[in-house]
Amino acid sequence: MNWLKEKKLSEKTKQSEWKKVNWRSPSNIALIKYWGKNGKQLPMNPSISFSLSKSYTDTTVYYKKKERQEKEIDFKYLFEAKENPDFSNRINIYLQSLLKDFPFLPYYRLRIESRNSFPHSAGIASSASSMSALALCLCSLERELTGISNQLDFFRKASNVARLGSGSASRSVYGGFNAWGEHSVLKELNNYYAIPLSENIHKIFQNLQDSILIIDKGQKKISSSYGHRLMENHPHRIQRIKEANSHFLQMWEVLKCGGFERFAAIVEAESFAIHNLMESSEPSFSLLKPETYKVISKIESFRNQNKLPLCFTLDAGPNVHLIYPLEIKKEIVNFIESELVEFCSNGFWIDDNMGNGPIRL
Ligand code: PMV
Repeated sequence: MNWLKEKKLSEKTKQSEWKKVNWRSPSNIALIKYWGKNGKQLPMNPSISFSLSKSYTDTTVYYKKKERQEKEIDFKYLFEAKENPDFSNRINIYLQSLLKDFPFLPYYRLRIESRNSFPHSAGIASSASSMSALALCLCSLERELTGISNQLDFFRKASNVARLGSGSASRSVYGGFNAWGEHSVLKELNNYYAIPLSENIHKIFQNLQDSILIIDKGQKKISSSYGHRLMENHPHRIQRIKEANSHFLQMWEVLKCGGFERFAAIVEAESFAIHNLMESSEPSFSLLKPETYKVISKIESFRNQNKLPLCFTLDAGPNVHLIYPLEIKKEIVNFIESELVEFCSNGFWIDDNMGNGPIRL
């Protein structure tokens, strides 16, 4: 066989080989909530969250060069080893929207496999971890194909691309605390990608725990997208933007200076702020359950009696996130086991904490 034939053959073999990129990316819990957007997934107000450790999504993107060039994006999506037409549909729309960011997409066959560390039916939103894991895989794929590898740009692009899949996912590409959205307190803050806030965080907030009390395992009856949309003409829109900006600034200071009581007051005010907005939307809706209020009332009494640094926050659902420093974990686990599990669905709660951010597997 002459060298030319041999070369062609080895190129063909290379092209037909599947290669892969994979990332584990965490979920995050917002302290200052993003609720309402403008334009193409831009937030109505700035938000702050911290990334979790045990609630994450593992995503692998297998890729192989197409033998013939076609314009269509060719992919197969498996969630927890099974086809899932709803997710697949969402990924299809998402990938189509990314053709400008990743012009190589139509030249490859893709096989995307994803699984969550938490049970699918735990009532936990997985869009932050799953969209950030996929965005990181796409950026790694781009890096493998183009060789461009500036670390700062890599994570900024991943955050920007993750945002286009789900706003909160923009904050999951880093560990610790993250902020997303413009605010005059720092010029780097912007609506396109999140930035990490790891420096100068007071020690009381460096090892935060998040015990997630699962009140309802069912799927949400109202999607976040619907809730965000109702903010467009919400009667309290202007007031909410002012409030969130003010809470953002206060949280910014508290995270640096310490003061758990102030932290708790802002976090809890933010939780109720978004649920009040849902209830005063037109049409109005509520995601909270009687058990949510019972758990909150127990937390308030426990805190008053024991004078311990703990607080709660709520995401877009009825589950309660109990936030506290690692130092009081023993007391809090006793409290959960003796007074709160009875309100959790099948006694289920997730023992999570602040994490270090995504890892390439
Ligand atoms: O990222 P989305 O579109 O699912 O919206 C998330 C909204 C909240 O979780 C309620 C708040 C937030 O900032 O994460």
